[in-house]
Amino acid sequence: MSGHDLPFELPAVGLGTWQMWGEDAERGVRDAIELGYRLIDTAAAYRNEKAVGAGIRSSGIDPGELVVVTKFPEEEAGREREVLHTSLDLLGVERIDLWLIHAPLDAAGSLRIWERFLEAREEGLVRAIGVSNFLPHQVDALTEASGVAPAVNQIAFGPHYYDADVAPHHAARGIALQAHSPFSENDLAHPVLRAIAERHGCTARQVLLRWHRAHRVPTVVKSTSRTHLTENLDTTGHSLDPVDMAALDRLGINPTPGQRA
Ligand SMILES: NC(=O)c1ccc[n+]([C@@H]2O[C@H](COP(=O)([O-])OP(=O)(O)OC[C@H]3O[C@@H](n4cnc5c(N)ncnc54)[C@H](OP(=O)(O)O)[C@@H]3O)[C@@H](O)[C@H]2O)c1
Repeated sequence: MSGHDLPFELPAVGLGTWQMWGEDAERGVRDAIELGYRLIDTAAAYRNEKAVGAGIRSSGIDPGELVVVTKFPEEEAGREREVLHTSLDLLGVERIDLWLIHAPLDAAGSLRIWERFLEAREEGLVRAIGVSNFLPHQVDALTEASGVAPAVNQIAFGPHYYDADVAPHHAARGIALQAHSPFSENDLAHPVLRAIAERHGCTARQVLLRWHRAHRVPTVVKSTSRTHLTENLDTTGHSLDPVDMAALDRLGINPTPGQRA
């Protein structure tokens, strides 16, 4: 039983597309690709796969250079194949690079979905399969029951709910973590965060992205503003020192991965 390798790298910052629709989503995706984003994260539940696909096509990028992530809504259990074909059609791609179970069901329910995921990967409809919002024990239950570890677990991973055991747990099993909602699930006004930002002459959001980089956890960030998209990719600032990191890690108040979106 082992984690299977991802056939691609997860970029440090990918584009999130929750609550981006229509022309905004199409333009946001195209702008992000033009600015250098190489991972686009969507979900069947976001109801924007068509616009995301249009943005990808209008960017003119070779699809082979992009990692397209979409998620299967767990409440659609039993309809995996139809939902996957709908995602492929709407996105206008031949295969999904990374297909995630959006959130866990009970162990038997998650396993039934996972078995369909394994078939889809076998058939080449998806390159890699993973999960989202799974707690470590849920990841282990799925792996033990199926014999195949998810390639990725996309979770809320930020200072305000930091649990020092989560990253090593996944690393030991060969599972890549990916953080969602780096801004929306953290308290941007927290005095510790603000003090560190002030000391580094940057914004609280930049501190958060530096924190993710220091923990070597790639993240997906949503923006439809070219200025923000550029800022979120920028890695030129000072990295955080161990004192900053310890202060931020201590903000963990609720070590449960956050809400599904
Ligand atoms: N798997 C899951 O269950 C799950 C759950 C939640 C999220 N996600 C994924 O993670 C992505 C990111 O999470 P999120 O959308 O919740 O929120 P987020 O990326 O943490 O924050 C997005 C918000 O921050 C603003 N923003 C972004 N960059 C900024 C900057 N440099 N300066 C100022 N404001 C900035 C955006 O506004 P502007 O557009 O105006 O820049 C938007 O209002 C989602 O889009 C989705 O793809 C997955």
